[in-house]
Amino acid sequence: MKGLRPDQVIRDEIQQISAYHVQSAAGLVKLDAMENPYSLPESLRAEIARMLASVEFNRYPDAGAIQLKKCLRRAMQIPESFDVLLGNGSDELLQIIINACARPGATVLAPSPGFVMYRMYSLIAGLRFVEVSVEADFSLDPDKMIAAIREHRPSVVLIAYPNNPTGNLFSGDAMTAILEEAPGLVVVDEAYQPFAESSFLDRLGNYPNLLVLRTLSKLGLAGIRLGYAVARPEWVRELDKVRSPYNVNSLTQLVAERVLANFDVLEHQAAAIRADRATLIARLGEFPEVIAYPSAANFLLVRVPDAATIFAGLKRRGVLVKNLHGAHAVLEQCLRITVGTPSENEQLLFALSACLDDRGNGVPPQLRVG
Ligand SMILES: Cc1ncc(COP(=O)(O)O)c(C=O)c1O
Repeated sequence: MKGLRPDQVIRDEIQQISAYHVQSAAGLVKLDAMENPYSLPESLRAEIARMLASVEFNRYPDAGAIQLKKCLRRAMQIPESFDVLLGNGSDELLQIIINACARPGATVLAPSPGFVMYRMYSLIAGLRFVEVSVEADFSLDPDKMIAAIREHRPSVVLIAYPNNPTGNLFSGDAMTAILEEAPGLVVVDEAYQPFAESSFLDRLGNYPNLLVLRTLSKLGLAGIRLGYAVARPEWVRELDKVRSPYNVNSLTQLVAERVLANFDVLEHQAAAIRADRATLIARLGEFPEVIAYPSAANFLLVRVPDAATIFAGLKRRGVLVKNLHGAHAVLEQCLRITVGTPSENEQLLFALSACLDDRGNGVPPQLRVG
């Protein structure tokens, strides 16, 4: 019997996309993935280690993650009248939302540039993906957004608030226009909310089609993969049908419960990152050739004279960032740099200074400091 080749079986739209690429960071200062650079206090880690010893690994996790949801509601002050859906990272929740809304011919609409998985998940689910470009200053023009919504009647609008990779919060006018105009679900993706101190969670009551998406990843728990969505029960009831059973494993549930019971630890870390963000912007501003844009997230969008060369130069000096040049017209010669610890930020500044010097006087990189 002769079998078919993958290209005869796999859908064309899947063959046309590339898998999400994660850069290797071995041995490098990792400022590429918007992680919290701080680990948990030793005492909390020891307590978690002791608790893990009694996990029943032979049993499935609590399917409803009841205890974890209680901890999450308390820590995040989620109003009782709204339901919570948990995911294996907010990535999984995005996929659940998009799959659930994938009626034939349906459209997902999002500002561009935005989080790359919005497009990937939409194409994988067979939806049309419409992008509305931000302006040169990364703001969203409410009129442009309204016109696009009227034209395309999207089933889902995805808005990262703050936006990744630009780091800014879209204006209140733009957000209100979207929430009032969109005919379908509006997902306000607050992955970076701990660094923004602005949220739509307390506006859920005003907009029946609003879903607020959050994650613990940027707060300091990227390794356990836990995201949560908050919306009216009628939305969560339907979305929950698309969720795989036991999608949040026992270890994640236990660790998240313990850490959320000590939520002040994460809050203090987020506050330190916000303060270090301000210092890093100021220090980057001392380089005349560099523009560091204001950010409400735990990363900075930075425009440099030659992103590819600076990216490679930083990497050679042991610092990994993300090169965004070529991803969108507004990102020309831009790098995205996660705010690290003060010492990591110093290493970045030192390496950047050396990269800029290389360009200035033409001395080969191997002869320079760093
Ligand atoms: C805007 C935005 N949403 C969602 C995610 C996914 O986060 P996670 O799956 O770790 O919860 C990211 C990750 O970078 C992001 O930038």
